[in-house]
Amino acid sequence: MHHIGPYPVNGRIHFSTGTNLNGMPQNERLENELLSRLYPIIEEYLQKSADSETPVVEYRDPGELQDLIDFELPEEGVSEAALMDLVESYLKYSVRTGHPQFLNQLYQGFNLPGFVGEVISALTNTSMYTYEVAPVATLIEQEMISKMCSALGFDSSEGIFLPGGSNANMTALLVARNQKMPSIKSDGVSRPMALFVSDQAHYSFEKAANILGLGINSVIKVATDSLGRMIPEELDRAVQKSIKSGSTPFFVVATAGTTVLGAFDPISGITDVAARHNLWLHVDGALGASVILSAKYRHLLHGIERADSVAWNPHKTMGVPLLCSALLLRENGILALCTSCDHGDYLFHDEESLDLGKKSLQCGRRVDALKLWLSWKYFGDKGYDQRITRLFSLADYAGERISSASDMKLVSPVQSFNVCFQYDPGGLDEEALGSLARNIREHMLRSGKSIVNYATVNGQTAIRISFINPDLTEQDIDVFFENVRSAAQQLTRIA
Ligand SMILES: Cc1ncc(COP(=O)(O)O)c(C=O)c1O
Repeated sequence: MHHIGPYPVNGRIHFSTGTNLNGMPQNERLENELLSRLYPIIEEYLQKSADSETPVVEYRDPGELQDLIDFELPEEGVSEAALMDLVESYLKYSVRTGHPQFLNQLYQGFNLPGFVGEVISALTNTSMYTYEVAPVATLIEQEMISKMCSALGFDSSEGIFLPGGSNANMTALLVARNQKMPSIKSDGVSRPMALFVSDQAHYSFEKAANILGLGINSVIKVATDSLGRMIPEELDRAVQKSIKSGSTPFFVVATAGTTVLGAFDPISGITDVAARHNLWLHVDGALGASVILSAKYRHLLHGIERADSVAWNPHKTMGVPLLCSALLLRENGILALCTSCDHGDYLFHDEESLDLGKKSLQCGRRVDALKLWLSWKYFGDKGYDQRITRLFSLADYAGERISSASDMKLVSPVQSFNVCFQYDPGGLDEEALGSLARNIREHMLRSGKSIVNYATVNGQTAIRISFINPDLTEQDIDVFFENVRSAAQQLTRIA
């Protein structure tokens, strides 16, 4: 008997006997080496990730990693046992992003239902373009879009899952551009257009302006207040200036949760300006749209129900494995109009069918809604309310610890999930404090103690902690500050 791929025998998964995965002769085995070794490896990895005694990373420079792992591809395929050795090496030197001392990026922690969804997406390996190849996934995606839209207060709405917040922002810009000037879809951009973001907005808008033929110079940065929130009057002034210069303003972004400070732009004030000038209002809620699920903090998104579109990344504060992002639009029926083209009849056979691919820029698209659906089923609305609210408490706790310490200072007040601070032993000027912040971070990374990022805040280099993992404890935060102090002491000793 010769099977290609796995087949079930007595309820266990086996691969064909007599050949291995490469079709090479091999002794009969009762079960497949890949799968039987995988589960204990995953278990051990998860146990270590949850243990604060385990380093968050066994950091190696690229040259050292090249010596430790055989990256080159062989002419003859390797055995399944050798493949699993490679998997173990991969895990050994990778960053444990579920570890309580991984506070670096805007994804953290480990969400088991989301992980199961990710595995099942890979297992069923299908694409979201047509209903016929993704029937259950299509209905799940529709359910998630409708749930997220109704949470935002959108009535007759639509949306799509896409690969990342940058992509969601770009698709919103495309839709707004084509709505403003429908001829652009066939003829291209023929005159200068302008879009407005705060000076704290994510860089994806410049990338999108480049891709969409608007040019990076079409992105106008609007001044923010001392907390990094866009000032609506400054927006109004910038729009008028751009009209005078002969440009056509069409799009404004309110950021809900800026990348560095976690600031929330005043959506209502920005909406008023947008309405006055007939601008499309997009909310970049990649980081903070999920705050709508927190009864205590949803006031930060006041006015979001009037937005034309919202980018929302469940892979950030909802803890769903990367990637999981959605673009949500208040009005139904525009997306396909702006993204579709006349061809594709080889794939889309039926006008009436529920083929989500007609709305997406990609052809093949992963099933990213499943992991969010399973997570949301598991935690429920109440669980997510608590989880999002918890992030604010963790950030507040960290802020209080910094404010009450004699050797640390906040460089900006805590507003949501992000905390920006400097280690300040006294007697150092701004430049020295900045380089100390960078060195502390580097030291903690290389020693595998904690991973955290740094950024420039009001001209000062500060360590930025992001609280994205609600399963952290106050004790984990205390350990982090101990690690900061111990790194600072070791650096002083070295100096
Ligand atoms: C405010 C904001 N918008 C957009 C993005 C881009 O999201 P993605 O990394 O999913 O492309 C980020 C990423 O950190 C972000 O912080």
